[in-house]
Amino acid sequence: MALQLGDTAPDFTADSTEGTIKFHEYLGDSWGILFSHPKDFTPVCTTELGEVARLKGEFDKRNTKVVGVSVDSVESHRSWLQDITDATGQSLNYPLLGDEDHKVSDLYGMIHPNASDTLTVRSVFVIGPDKKVKLIITYPASTGRNFDEILRVLDSLQLTAGYFVSTPVNWKEGEDVIISPAIDDESAKEKFPKGFRKVKDYLRFTPQPDR
Ligand code: BEZ
Repeated sequence: MALQLGDTAPDFTADSTEGTIKFHEYLGDSWGILFSHPKDFTPVCTTELGEVARLKGEFDKRNTKVVGVSVDSVESHRSWLQDITDATGQSLNYPLLGDEDHKVSDLYGMIHPNASDTLTVRSVFVIGPDKKVKLIITYPASTGRNFDEILRVLDSLQLTAGYFVSTPVNWKEGEDVIISPAIDDESAKEKFPKGFRKVKDYLRFTPQPDR
């Protein structure tokens, strides 16, 4: 069955542009993002990999290690790196796994045969420090991802892991959040000393609690 939210992220050992990676050991206590791209030396992938390199500092701030993968070899990845730098002005600063034998792609269900028998789709898996899968996103080869959205989701995942809150539509870091309906008003007053605004019994907004 396909990997689902809450499942343990499969562990593996694989070669990468930064040497052998034992995935769980590599992640340690950090959050992790494992993302696939369909193929080396292709246009959309080139832009995506450069963008992730540009955002590396943002992932670091969020204690998150990023790992890329495709069904190409590490040798192929290495020969592509200069193109990524030329095209995007960014040098790769995170590991890219080689996965010619599809070991990682199969573990994570990154090949969707009705899209392509051989290439990985654009998958994103966010993995928590407990090694559980927190988010799964899948895009087709033709559509480059929005990595600002992935940072936004990471902010939400990290916030909601620590407080009894959820984040509303289009929420961004710093905006008001929603108090869990499981918390009654009395407890909410204690847990959220900045107060809350009640729109409905089940919809109460409070300032972001970790700010
Ligand atoms: C691309 O990155 O542009 C791409 C890769 C594989 C299939 C289609 C597009």
